[in-house]
Amino acid sequence: MIDQGTIARIIEAAEITDVVSDFIHLKKRGVNYLGLCPFHNEKTPSFTVSPAKGIFKCFGCGKGGNSVNFIMEHENLTYPEALKWLAKKYNIEVIDKEETEEEKQQKDERESMMIVSSFAQKYFTKFLWNENEGRTIGLSYFRERQLRDDIIKKFDLGYCPDGKTIFTDAAQKEGYKLDFLEKTGLTIKRDDWLRDRFSGRVMFPIHNLAGRVIAFGGRILKDDKKAAKYLNSPESEIYHKSRVLYGIFQAKRELTKTDRCYLVEGYTDVLAFHQAGIENVVASSGTALTSDQIRLIKRFTPNITIIYDGDEAGIKASLRGIDLVLEEGMNVRVLLLPEGEDPDSFSHSRTGAELLDYIKKNEADFIRFKTKLLLKSAENDPVAKARLISEIIRSVSVIPDTILRSEYIKECSKLLKVDEKILYDEVRKNKSKKDQAFRRSGVKPPVQKAAAQPTPKPEINEGLKVEEKEVLRYLLKYGNQPLFEVEKEEGEGIEVVMVGEFVISEIEGDGLVSKNIDFRKCFDEFKEHLDAPDFNPSIFFVNHPDTALSAIASDLLSEKFVESKRWTKAGAYTEKEEDILDLLIPRVVYEYKLWKVKEMLQNLEAEITKASESEDFEQVFEHQSTYINLKKVEKFLSDKLGNRTFI
Ligand code: CTP
Ligand code: MN
Repeated sequence: MIDQGTIARIIEAAEITDVVSDFIHLKKRGVNYLGLCPFHNEKTPSFTVSPAKGIFKCFGCGKGGNSVNFIMEHENLTYPEALKWLAKKYNIEVIDKEETEEEKQQKDERESMMIVSSFAQKYFTKFLWNENEGRTIGLSYFRERQLRDDIIKKFDLGYCPDGKTIFTDAAQKEGYKLDFLEKTGLTIKRDDWLRDRFSGRVMFPIHNLAGRVIAFGGRILKDDKKAAKYLNSPESEIYHKSRVLYGIFQAKRELTKTDRCYLVEGYTDVLAFHQAGIENVVASSGTALTSDQIRLIKRFTPNITIIYDGDEAGIKASLRGIDLVLEEGMNVRVLLLPEGEDPDSFSHSRTGAELLDYIKKNEADFIRFKTKLLLKSAENDPVAKARLISEIIRSVSVIPDTILRSEYIKECSKLLKVDEKILYDEVRKNKSKKDQAFRRSGVKPPVQKAAAQPTPKPEINEGLKVEEKEVLRYLLKYGNQPLFEVEKEEGEGIEVVMVGEFVISEIEGDGLVSKNIDFRKCFDEFKEHLDAPDFNPSIFFVNHPDTALSAIASDLLSEKFVESKRWTKAGAYTEKEEDILDLLIPRVVYEYKLWKVKEMLQNLEAEITKASESEDFEQVFEHQSTYINLKKVEKFLSDKLGNRTFI
């Protein structure tokens, strides 16, 4: 790992024109430089370099970024590799972060444990494919379960030979120390005897996010009621069960791409989904879901569908999972499979498309899920119904986002036929109980998280709209600058509101965070770092290791046209943008909101037409009242924007 200080030094040294000039002939054009783009074929130069902003941008093919991104793209390197490349060019010594003796030792120990795990995985895999015992017992077991070879290989499945210490002996013969074999749990050691933990089992290696093997699950092949069906590696320095999800490494690309995560219970469920072509799936591996695991998913997508068996245990586990996911400010749906089925068995008689179709048709929003589940037994029993209500209210209370919460209360009131006001009161009681608990414990309650979307529409990933770009651009340029001052409570003095704070709270407070993936990514990342000392948004984003983000940032910073439009509108040709932020920023936010509101109105119109066509007049009325309210908001915003032009 390269330490932050060194990274900063490299970026500072790697002046963009200097870096690019190594590969391209640049000509000066005003404050910028121009050349022929190396990333696509062109005859007239559209490749622009801005030394002031430290970025390049091709107006032909759209590629852009800072010097690190240029090297990554041009030399086909990863981010750390590109950094090292540049460090070499500028004679900057790359020192790995300074470590204490203890840290070093611990790191060495962890490294050794990973190395021995990797050896074990390769050994088990080889044994499965090449040895007689492996093929006739292990491989034929997998094939019996209808697993395809490509899936067996993709997940590095294997077989541990049946015997006392066949594996341990082989490992030691290869020079692996018993100490690490024992620490990883591959070998069990008692006073005077050794044993292979997994002998005679088929092996499911567990990979961490980076793809390294950190543990194993081993399944028994015999139908032995006394022995555990699965044996797993023990907790260790490199394997913390509660922080790991099976399949995360193989799923991570699809999680982002599909913006949804299917959460299943078992190893074989993950494999079955992959075999059906559905790769955005991870398993909690039989243990109760933890918030660490949910946060791991959240790094890739806020949308989770829990798919558990339809039996008693599955239902219980789903209910527990729901609240945990909600607490993280994420969206959760639940799908219970018919009793006796798990995703593995269920997927066998279906194609991937059929499976997806089934999921989409049957997954239920958590409120509907809970209500349906509990209402059956509670219908004619007032006590049971009261319990049901408080059960659902408990889930609603943990949602951090106000607007989303009230949406759910509405929904709940309809489904349970209970007055909204009563539900609100209950939620309030619940929340204050929780806050008190926090206060007593001295722990800060969790901060508000991004507004989760109540009825997720198909994920949107078209380009950013002008209004979105504007919001992001001003965040980038001025996010860390003061916007205006407000008086705190009486006598408490004055508080400065920063541009970033204002923009984020305005948009988020109204639940108007766009669903565009790029927008949301920037928005969330911004929010997360807003309070960091020395946060400089344009530098932070242009140099962001996530290349998607740094590309957006350099794109936005190299756009000029929107800027001039706004200046004209605000009637402020002569003034500098940064001097009239108090005028510009609210405008930008209002314009964004107006655009979102108009979009919502349009959607509603379509919904109203649909509902009246199907003669669902209750729906029509409900939509209409929302419509009228939104129209008022629209008018309010247009008025605001109209008036501003005269200032
Ligand atoms: N599990 C475990 N130890 C056990 C039983 C289960 O660790 N003794 C974990 C495994 O990760 C397993 C998951 O819980 O994948 C789900 O258990 P189960 O549904 O019983 O197993 P399946 O995954 O369905 O496995 P199989 O189809 O092989 O029976
Ligand atoms: Mn199963």
